[in-house]
Amino acid sequence: MRAVVTGGAGFIGSNLVDALIERGDEVVVVDNFATGKRKHLSPKATLLEHDIREPYQADADVVFHLAAQADVQTSMTRPEYDAAVNVVGTVNVLQASPGAQVIFASSGGAGYGECPDPASEDAPFLPLSPYGIAKKCGEEYLLGWNRIHGTTHVPLRFANVYGPRQDAGLEGGVVAIFLERLARGDGTTIYGDGSQSRDFVYVDDVIAALLATVGKSGGPYNVGTGEDTTVAQLHAACAAVAGVDAQPRLEAARLGDVQRSVLDAALIERELGWRAQVPLDDGLRRTWAWMKSEPDSA
Ligand SMILES: NC(=O)c1ccc[n+]([C@@H]2O[C@H](COP(=O)([O-])OP(=O)(O)OC[C@H]3O[C@@H](n4cnc5c(N)ncnc54)[C@H](O)[C@@H]3O)[C@@H](O)[C@H]2O)c1
Repeated sequence: MRAVVTGGAGFIGSNLVDALIERGDEVVVVDNFATGKRKHLSPKATLLEHDIREPYQADADVVFHLAAQADVQTSMTRPEYDAAVNVVGTVNVLQASPGAQVIFASSGGAGYGECPDPASEDAPFLPLSPYGIAKKCGEEYLLGWNRIHGTTHVPLRFANVYGPRQDAGLEGGVVAIFLERLARGDGTTIYGDGSQSRDFVYVDDVIAALLATVGKSGGPYNVGTGEDTTVAQLHAACAAVAGVDAQPRLEAARLGDVQRSVLDAALIERELGWRAQVPLDDGLRRTWAWMKSEPDSA
């Protein structure tokens, strides 16, 4: 298969590129290295160094559209930049590879808000940030293209993804932040009392979901574990994996942080046969092993 991976130098994208190459697929990466790293880019992929805010052409059977301005705070301060990358960029991606199926990385956390129960896809998707609005807009473009052009593009709504190559410098990567600080012997901070919880899904599971979507139609589909872990539990699990007895400092909760975010992934299991396989402890161990093998991993 000829695959285009936009954002293929990023955390999730570069892991996906490696998996595609391992399968023998032909891969073109479209990335401008806004946050992606050259060292994570497979030498076996062809690079189209390009900013998706501008039109381009790239022949493909399938496009995994992962390139994004993925930082919620940046979207608050620079909504026009966020929309240029995440909305206009998505339209350019749809136009760049006519005939290809586009699979789009949307975000469950950015859309469902507070989740008293695991959120299913029919829960109201009411974003509270320009980033979330742009993701919703991207989904609408894909689904609208399906109606207008008869395509089979599919949006996937990821939970909190973690694993090797996640950047501890970017907001959202709480696993990467905890593990990196514990590795350095630095103090760790929890904002709030630690009882807030998230659905942490390991990057290999997310890649399996992306691959399970190839050639299928439908969605949007949630991609999560269906289980939430409190930030305090996560910290304890990270400390255990790192083999240290560290207590986090507690600081005031951050404005806008929801108390509970967890996705119900029953639909994708029923329709595409995907379900998360990697338990949190196992995923943390693998992430820790990667971090130790790459001293300058961050
Ligand atoms: N990491 C998560 O927990 C999570 C959760 C929900 C959704 N997502 C989505 O998954 C996708 C991948 O996220 P990630 O965590 O790997 O982020 P990332 O920042 O590591 O990767 C994004 C990639 O997009 C590239 N990029 C940014 N702007 C670009 C532009 N204008 N032109 C071309 N390339 C550009 C970056 O250089 C980077 O390589 C994003 O769409 C993100 O919104 C991630």
